[in-house]
Amino acid sequence: MDTLYSFLGGSRGAWRVTSLRDVCGEGLPPVERVEVVQGGSLMDAALPPATAWRLRGLTSHVRYAERSEVDQLAAIQPATGRVEATCAALIPIRKKAAWWALAQDERRAIFESVSHHTEIGLTYLPAVARRLHHSRDLGEAFDFVTWFEYAPEHAVAFEKLVYALRATPEWNYVEREVDIRLVRDGQHA
Ligand code: HEM
Repeated sequence: MDTLYSFLGGSRGAWRVTSLRDVCGEGLPPVERVEVVQGGSLMDAALPPATAWRLRGLTSHVRYAERSEVDQLAAIQPATGRVEATCAALIPIRKKAAWWALAQDERRAIFESVSHHTEIGLTYLPAVARRLHHSRDLGEAFDFVTWFEYAPEHAVAFEKLVYALRATPEWNYVEREVDIRLVRDGQHA
């Protein structure tokens, strides 16, 4: 299943954890490294040895982006896996029941008309590559697993982006968030 991504926190993987911060709600245990695995089966229940936690999610179709936004994103968003993008952020997020009780148009209004999520995010492209994974319908602990890659010279810009988004009304609906930063050092790949 190509759309399935698993993030295995433990002592293996190409990405070394440089910080793990509990932003709100219950945190995650600290780990040394994260292994990113694409594919596999949702039925794989057993965690590999020495894995402290596993975050899983599926890439999927857009929910909120409108045609003009989809076109703008497609025109400038870079792919993941760029050689120079040796920094990454892994930010799992769960939203409150109040968010999920809203109708689609109400969520879109908060997400974009009020919070300008895409408009803000677009100004950080193509420096930042992103991949959004949906986890809610898998029964996972988080609703989303977000993954970003950028070069070290864009690390300060990425902080500004995260700061700006967390200050928006959309984030009033976030009840659990962990911010994990990583560098790719090629060890244990
Ligand atoms: C790099 C710049 C960014 C861009 C261009 C961007 C763009 C987008 C877009 C277009 C969507 C909606 C996809 C859809 O229509 O379903 C989205 C969803 C989302 N993004 Fe971002 N984003 C960026 C950065 C971030 C950051 C830094 C975070 C976390 C701190 C984040 C967290 C999320 C989450 C959790 C969702 C799902 C929201 C929901 O469905 O309720 N994004 N993003």
